[in-house]
Amino acid sequence: MAPPEFPFPRDHDYQPPSLNQTLRHECPATKVKLYDGSESWLFVKHKDICQALSSEHLSADRRTPGYPEIHGSGHKAKEAHPTFVNLDNPEHNKQRNMLEDAFTPGAIEKLKPMIQQTVNHVIDDFVKKYQEQNSPIDLIEELATPIPTQIIYRVLGVPDKDIPRLSQDSAVRTGTSRTAAEQSNQNLQDYMASLVDTRIEKPEDDMISKLASEQYRNGRLSRDDIIQISFMILTAGNAALINSIGLGVLTLLQHPDQLDELKKNSSLAPQAVNELLRYNTTSALNSRRAVLSDAQIDGVTVHKGESVICSVQSGDRDEDKTEKPESFDIHRKYSREDVLGFGYGPHRCLGEALSRAELKAVFATLFQKAPGLKLAVKFEELEFSDPKQNAGVTKLPVTL
Ligand code: HEM
Repeated sequence: MAPPEFPFPRDHDYQPPSLNQTLRHECPATKVKLYDGSESWLFVKHKDICQALSSEHLSADRRTPGYPEIHGSGHKAKEAHPTFVNLDNPEHNKQRNMLEDAFTPGAIEKLKPMIQQTVNHVIDDFVKKYQEQNSPIDLIEELATPIPTQIIYRVLGVPDKDIPRLSQDSAVRTGTSRTAAEQSNQNLQDYMASLVDTRIEKPEDDMISKLASEQYRNGRLSRDDIIQISFMILTAGNAALINSIGLGVLTLLQHPDQLDELKKNSSLAPQAVNELLRYNTTSALNSRRAVLSDAQIDGVTVHKGESVICSVQSGDRDEDKTEKPESFDIHRKYSREDVLGFGYGPHRCLGEALSRAELKAVFATLFQKAPGLKLAVKFEELEFSDPKQNAGVTKLPVTL
C-alpha cells in the first residue's frame, strides 16, 4: 500500500483524524508521504512516542538531513540560526537552562496575580463589548487571542502602554495577508530589539532584564541571541494557547453536564484543563525529528537520514494509556506528564506551567463572569483550522 499523505484529513470538525486510530490498532509504526514527496516514519502509540522523543539518536535540529517539514515555509527555517528549540544537546541544554528559572512552577506562582488580573480584564471587556453591541461576539478575537498575547508581553517586560499596538501586530502576523503579516513580523522584531537595548542599559524585573543582567553581562549570550530568544518566547506558544482556549470552550459547551459542574465548582478547573489538553492536543503537528544514527523504536529500525513524526495527538487518544479515550471526562485521574500535548523528553514544552496557569485562570473565571455563554450559530456552521495546521476553531461566535 502506498504511504498515506500526512497531515491526514479530519473526518469531522476538530476531532483527530480516524486514521490515527486505525494505525494505532493495525500499524503503529508506518511510513507517510509529506507535501514535498519525501517519506517519514509516523509513530502513533503513547509508549513509542515517549521512546522516540527521549532518544538521543533523534535530532530536533531542522538542519539535520531528513528533518521532516510539513509545509514549504518550514524549509526557510533551515536557513536561520536556530534557538535551543531546534538544537540538540549539549547546546540545547545550555540555552534552555538559562531560561528555565523563569518558567518553573515556583516562578509561575509569582506571576499568578498578573495572570488573573489580565484574565479578569479581558473577560470584563469581552462582556462589556457584548452588552454594548448586543449581537454575537467572536470569542477567538475578543478573548482567546488577547489573553495569552497580553500575558506573554507582560512576562517579557513590555510596558503596558505599548501592548495594544503590539497586540495588533501579533494578530496581523498570524493573519491571512502575507504582506501585512511580514510587515507586522518586522515591526515586532524591531520592537523587541529596542526593548532588549533598553533593558541591557537599565534592567527591570522581567525576563528580558534577567537575560540581560545574567547572561549578556557575563558574555554567555549576545544582544542578538537575546533578541532572537525573546521573539521566540513571544511567538512559541501563542497559537497553541489561543486554540486551547477556543476549543476548550467549545468542548465544554458540547458537554453541558460537566460544564455545569465546573460552573458550580471552579476548583475543578485544573483537572478540566488537564483533560482539555489531552482531548484537544492543539499541538497536533509538533514533535518531529531527524534520525542521527540508527535506532530501534517499537521493534522497527529507523535509519540515519530518515525522518520521524510523533503524533502526540494520537498518543493522547491511545486506548492502551487512557480508558475510553474518545470520551471527554474531567474526572479522570492521571498524571499531568501523561498528557503528550506539551511533548515529551528533553524538548518538553518550556511554557507548560505558564500555559496551565493561564488556562486554569480562564476556565475558572469565564463561566463565573459569563454563565449564560452559548454558541450563536449551529455547531455545523463553525469553521475549524485547516487539517494541515494544528487543531483549532477559527471563529467562535457566542452570545452571553
Ligand atoms: C497550550 C499551549 C502550548 C502547547 C500545547 C505547547 C506545545 C509544545 C510542544 C508539543 C513542544 C515540544 C515540541 C517538540 O517536541 O519538538 C513545545 C516546546 C516548547 N514550547 Fe510550548 N506549547 C504551549 C505553550 C507555550 C508557551 C506559552 C511558551 C512560551 C512561553 C512555549 C514555549 C515552548 C518552548 C521554548 C519549547 C521548546 C522547548 C525545548 O526545545 O526545550 N510553549 N511546546
